[in-house]
Amino acid sequence: MPPPFCGTSPNGTRTRACARRRGGRCPRCRRLDLPVATPVFSRPFATREGTTMAVEFSPEAAKKIEQIAARYPWKQAACLPALHIAQKEFGHLHDDALRAVAAALDLPYAHVYGVATFYTMLRREPAAPNVLRVCTNVACMLRGAYDVLAALEDKLGIRRGESTEEFTIVEEECIAACANAPAIVCGTRYFLDVVPEQVEEILAELRERPRPESEVV
Ligand code: FES
Repeated sequence: MPPPFCGTSPNGTRTRACARRRGGRCPRCRRLDLPVATPVFSRPFATREGTTMAVEFSPEAAKKIEQIAARYPWKQAACLPALHIAQKEFGHLHDDALRAVAAALDLPYAHVYGVATFYTMLRREPAAPNVLRVCTNVACMLRGAYDVLAALEDKLGIRRGESTEEFTIVEEECIAACANAPAIVCGTRYFLDVVPEQVEEILAELRERPRPESEVV
C-alpha cells in the first residue's frame, strides 16, 4: 500500500497533525520536528504555481468544506462533497472552480479534475436550472425509458445533452430507482414509473417549482 497522504501543503511545509497520525514521524520526510502549516483557509486561494485564482469560495462555502474535511483523516476524502459545493457556488465546474477545490484541500489539480470528470452529476459545462436526468439503464430501458426520453425531446425541441432556458436533458445511467423504472431525477425530485403521457405534467411541475441540482448539497 502506498504511504498515506502526508499532509504536505502547497508551500512545501508538512503538518504536525500528519506526524501525530503516524506516531510522531512523517512517513515521507521521517522527521519529528515538523513545522505547523498555515491553516488552509487563512491563506489566499492560489494554485500550486502560486498564481492567484480567478474564483474564490465564499466564507460560508470555505467553512463548510473545512468542516467536511475535518471528518476524515485525509482531506482527499472530502473531494467529492467539496466539488458539489463548488458546483453550487460557481454554477458548474470550470477550470478555476477545480483549482479552488484543489487549493482548499491541498490536492493536485489532476486529482480533482479526475474526480470531476468521472461522475455525471458533476458538470463541467453550464446547464439550465432544471437538469432532467433520464435513466436508460437496463431496468428503465426494458420499461420504456427511450419512449419517455423521446417524448421529452419532442416536447422541448432539443436532443439529449442539449438545453433550453429552463431544461437540460441528460441520458443517465442507473439512478437507483430500478424498482420503479423508468425513472427521471431532477435535483432531489424523483419521477417514478414514468410514461410518455406524463411528460407534460412533469415539465409543468418543474416550471412551477424548479429543482436545481444545487439543492442536493
Ligand atoms: S436502471 Fe433505471 S433506475 Fe436503475
